Amino acid sequence: MDVIIQSNAELAARTAADLIARALSAKPDLGLGLATGCTMESVYDQLVRKHLEAGLDFSRCRTFNLDEYVGLAADDPCSYHYFMRERFFDAVNINLGNTYLPDGTAEDLAAECMNYEKLVALNGGIDLQLLGIGLNGHLGFNEPLSAFRSRTRVVTLSRVTRAQNAPLFPKPRQVPRRAITMGVGTILEARCCVLLATGLEKAEIVARAIEGPLTAMVTATALQLHPACTVVLDEEAAGNLRENDHYQRILPAPNGPAKIPPAILAENENGGRSLPATSKKTFLAGKS
Ligand code: GLP
Repeated sequence: MDVIIQSNAELAARTAADLIARALSAKPDLGLGLATGCTMESVYDQLVRKHLEAGLDFSRCRTFNLDEYVGLAADDPCSYHYFMRERFFDAVNINLGNTYLPDGTAEDLAAECMNYEKLVALNGGIDLQLLGIGLNGHLGFNEPLSAFRSRTRVVTLSRVTRAQNAPLFPKPRQVPRRAITMGVGTILEARCCVLLATGLEKAEIVARAIEGPLTAMVTATALQLHPACTVVLDEEAAGNLRENDHYQRILPAPNGPAKIPPAILAENENGGRSLPATSKKTFLAGKS
């Protein structure tokens, strides 16, 4: 796991956007896993800017979002479908037919979850998965006690999560009680992961996620098993890390150019999308 600490939230978001932009330039048909939440808004702003000002090309990119609320249609302003169109898809040259989110209004939710897994696999898997972190340490909507090998499924949202996301709804009680989320196991199969967290309120959970013991009570600790995970933080979110100094020292320049995720580079060197999704062996040997 690499930890990049930037002096403020904007620089941290820019670093995450740089990682995505470099991966996309190295591989124009990138399988890009996307996340929602307030932290991601500035990442999408940066990506839109890179498209408008530097011609960053999304035309061949395929995207897979982590999650969606059960019961919210794509045109509901509180849905993640809506968030993605408004903040990102409609502002860049992405082919909407190549953007995928689980359908929270599907009649058969279990079938929808299975199909979503198949869709990701049929499209060659996810090269780079962008992640935020919930106040309880969730990835996507993998609430405490989500198995590290869990797959896309319907989950019940915790009280903490519903309270955290309530400001994004007209009334707190309108926050749905359930969601579809990619599983922790699904996320760990992405060829590389980029987790972005900013702000003081994330400091405690970030420290538990990065330095704490592996536990399904904090699903983000599963990222410690991933062979190519980069965590990007601002100083506030990094504030509780015990090894803060060490992370700053092992990187040549904390404010310097962000690293291209090694998995994407390796894939590019292999001349195509030939790397298999993380095998059981690399999963277990995983931590780097
Ligand atoms: C929601 C999303 C998560 C995201 C989290 C963080 O719960 N399902 O994927 O990580 O929000 O949100 P914020 O960035 O607003 O703190």
